[in-house]
Amino acid sequence: MKQTLIFATNNQNKVTEIRSVIGDLFEIITLKEAGIDIDIPEPHDTLEANATEKSQTIHRLTTKNCFSEDTGLEVAALKGEPGVKSARYAGDGRDFQQNIDKLLTNLQGHTNRKAQFRTVVSLILDNKEYLFEGICEGQITEDQKGNQGFGYDPVFIPDGATKCFAEMSVDEKNKYSHRKKAVAKLIKFLSEQTA
Ligand code: IMP
Repeated sequence: MKQTLIFATNNQNKVTEIRSVIGDLFEIITLKEAGIDIDIPEPHDTLEANATEKSQTIHRLTTKNCFSEDTGLEVAALKGEPGVKSARYAGDGRDFQQNIDKLLTNLQGHTNRKAQFRTVVSLILDNKEYLFEGICEGQITEDQKGNQGFGYDPVFIPDGATKCFAEMSVDEKNKYSHRKKAVAKLIKFLSEQTA
């Protein structure tokens, strides 16, 4: 029987990306589908602690197997910022465009445009927690391009690509993506548990 996991997110883009990687192997239930309507807090100063907070919150509510993920964009010239504050970089409105504007403003005059997305997945399986990490290195562009994806996708070109994430389909983004790498580790782990 297919294993069912609740995915502790309200971000539909993340659900689409993760479902495209997981395929038919596992059944992913969104918070909405599980009838849970909460804004899960992200109060901590590491991606790991926030991912844990999200999965534990949903596990407390449902007692079911579940996972969460927390992602940050770490920019070298900004000493790792916005990092764990990526969603609220320009304020509590969590506005993608304002976040991009602030990032490009803060990078004005910097020739070092190196950055990485880092995703941490927290899985709670049979009451135990497991963490998985995925990293995608790349560059922040001078101008934004494309209208696919979400967040900082219009200003991030992954290493090995010639266009930014927002110019790629979900499948193209998955060739490079931090989230795909973390979820691939999650799938491998789950497959080993059920083998
Ligand atoms: P969260 O706290 O994990 O939901 O994500 C923090 C913020 O990072 C999001 O609001 C987005 O702005 C950004 N982000 C996360 N993942 C991606 C991605 O795959 N592409 C672009 N931006 C992302």
